[in-house]
Amino acid sequence: MSDVDLDVHRSGEDITEALRRDVREGLSAPQKWLPSKWFYDARGSELFERITELDEYYPTRCEREILRREAGEIAAVTGARTLVELGSGSSEKTRLLLDALSAHGTLREFVPLDVSESALAEAAEAIAGDYPDLTVRGVVGDFTEHLGLLPGERPRIVAFLGGTIGNFLPADRAKFLRSVRDVLTEGEWLLLGTDLVKDPGTLVRAYDDAQGVTAEFNRNVLRVLNERLGADADPAAFEHVAHWDAEHEWIEMRLRATSDTRVRIPGADLEVTFTAGEHVRTEISAKFRPSGVRAELAEAGLSLERWWTDERDRFGVSLSRAVA
Ligand code: AVJ
Repeated sequence: MSDVDLDVHRSGEDITEALRRDVREGLSAPQKWLPSKWFYDARGSELFERITELDEYYPTRCEREILRREAGEIAAVTGARTLVELGSGSSEKTRLLLDALSAHGTLREFVPLDVSESALAEAAEAIAGDYPDLTVRGVVGDFTEHLGLLPGERPRIVAFLGGTIGNFLPADRAKFLRSVRDVLTEGEWLLLGTDLVKDPGTLVRAYDDAQGVTAEFNRNVLRVLNERLGADADPAAFEHVAHWDAEHEWIEMRLRATSDTRVRIPGADLEVTFTAGEHVRTEISAKFRPSGVRAELAEAGLSLERWWTDERDRFGVSLSRAVA
């Protein structure tokens, strides 16, 4: 409709092929696992939106509190002309940044990047409509693969919010931060949201809510296998588990088979058996300490310039700058 460009680096076929590979690798491993990005079809994205409104799920509210308070400071410090948002989803918190950068007078372009073409098109259209002076260039892609292709006038600020960085295993996280650093020019910026280590009760409740929305979100990955790969998984045969791994300091979500179960996955040419009690790991969500965030950024060539937390120190937002 309006002046929104979409660069598509990922077609429907690419996505099915990537899912097939991940399923073959993860479900034939001795400890079964699946990458958490496969939660997010239309239904999964909707369930995640409902999670962000739950009493138990504090990260979204805490991060919003920080961004509301600090958006002006972020605009003043960075003077960014382009806002790039990775995994933009509904782009709701983004508006706080767009408003502050527009008011500061430097903002020209908004570049949301997301795997979901429908979510991206919708968000990009809405923002283009509300910010008529802004050039909006959506990129449909996977931020672990398509970072080399980011457009935009400099200086750019790349926002990676919500604590999604916690979904990477530590080695992948280091690689990812390095790849972000590498697409930036010296002096450009990363705004990163990180959930913080806290008492296990609060953490487990955030990933195992009383209404069972997170449980449905977790089981949704089975529906994605059924739809995209013609699998016959019965979501009701698996229970939701949110486990705090104190050694690694991450929440691990699992789907545990309640009885001996077989899942046929024709689209991946695979048949998987679960014995009663056996689980598949569907997500890790790492929790951070401020010293660790600073060290990991530094290791990637990003120097921490600002660090903010919410009133109760549950969530952290860092602003770091690409250095040589
Ligand atoms: C969207 C990746 C930040 O890890 O907290 C919410 C996803 N998983 N409840 C998170 C999620 C279970 C969420 N992120």
